[in-house]
Amino acid sequence: MADPIRSIPTLEDLGDVAGRRVLVRTDFNVPMEGGVITDDFRIRAALPTITWLTERGATVVTASHLGRPKGQPNPKYSMDPVRARLAELAPGVELLENLRFDPGEEGNDPAFVAKLVEGVDAYVDDAFGACHRAHASIVGPPQTLPSAMGLLLQKEVEVLLGLRERPKHPFVAVLGGSKISDKLGVVEALLNTVDSLVIGGAMCFTFLAAQGHPIGASLWEPDQVDTCRRLLETAGERGKTIHLPEDIVGLDADGNFATYGVRLPEGAKGFDIGPGTAAAFTDIIMDARTVFWNGPMGMFEDDRFAAGTRTVAQAMADTKAFTVVGGGDSAAALAQFRLDDEVDHVSTGGGASLELLELGDLPGLEALRNAPNAPGA
Ligand code: 3PG
Repeated sequence: MADPIRSIPTLEDLGDVAGRRVLVRTDFNVPMEGGVITDDFRIRAALPTITWLTERGATVVTASHLGRPKGQPNPKYSMDPVRARLAELAPGVELLENLRFDPGEEGNDPAFVAKLVEGVDAYVDDAFGACHRAHASIVGPPQTLPSAMGLLLQKEVEVLLGLRERPKHPFVAVLGGSKISDKLGVVEALLNTVDSLVIGGAMCFTFLAAQGHPIGASLWEPDQVDTCRRLLETAGERGKTIHLPEDIVGLDADGNFATYGVRLPEGAKGFDIGPGTAAAFTDIIMDARTVFWNGPMGMFEDDRFAAGTRTVAQAMADTKAFTVVGGGDSAAALAQFRLDDEVDHVSTGGGASLELLELGDLPGLEALRNAPNAPGA
């Protein structure tokens, strides 16, 4: 197969953009509370591409989805707050209304694609977080327009495919979050490249149950116990280690804060890794040369259960390893602890970063490779 990155057209492959109208698909799906943006990371991340184009005389029209309005206009998901923020950061840049107000976006309807590309001279995909969706605005425009990946998309792909293809060892993946079922594919793929996996978050309880430990009333996925047992065996056979917590912090049956070993009494609920585990995970991260982290170690939104996630975030900041954080909750945790500038790369993609690590490609990248101006097209 041709080089998976070099076969994608870059901004230079658009030729002269002066005086041309360029549609830039961005991922402005930002967290909001009561109509107010709580983190504008994804908007700021698109600025280098927007600036690159406007400095060269292009007229930039951006387009994004926001939330999941299911093909219906809905004021709750209006782009207005994003448009206001964008106007502060990049004056004069247009932003279309939420793409998902039209069912044609998710349905990849050719009529909706035709509407999007009308009057447009070129297309740039900088929406890494949405590139795993074969939606109209992602896969449609490159069928006819000269197209390119934006600078953000390019960086994301280089970093994440780099982890898949040539990580420096020891390579450690730290995974958290609530469900192992959501991350099964990526765990299996990571077992091909990592030296060890570190598991925290509620998903650890399904692994602990697979090892025969009582987990009290903690969140777990009974139907995934066999899968976890198989993963532990497979890792062992391949000489890899899956590190699980050795202590747990949570609430006892009466709702009192408590610290346990790996055996939780009846009614107890685990909400964070314990201090011994946090110290052990720190050592593993400090000794690594590459670390990928996705998913919090516990319920960090509650101060009582933030210590595990905070300690792992601090280790990510302190280690000399090349550090990559997969978007979503772990990126939010890093920002909460003000450590987001201390790691090498914070991905803007949640699902997209996991899917790229798992499969090595995304529908959005494949679409760009087939654009009329793609290298070798
Ligand atoms: C994300 O937030 O991960 C992306 O914007 C994709 O959103 P989606 O999961 O609703 O497609």
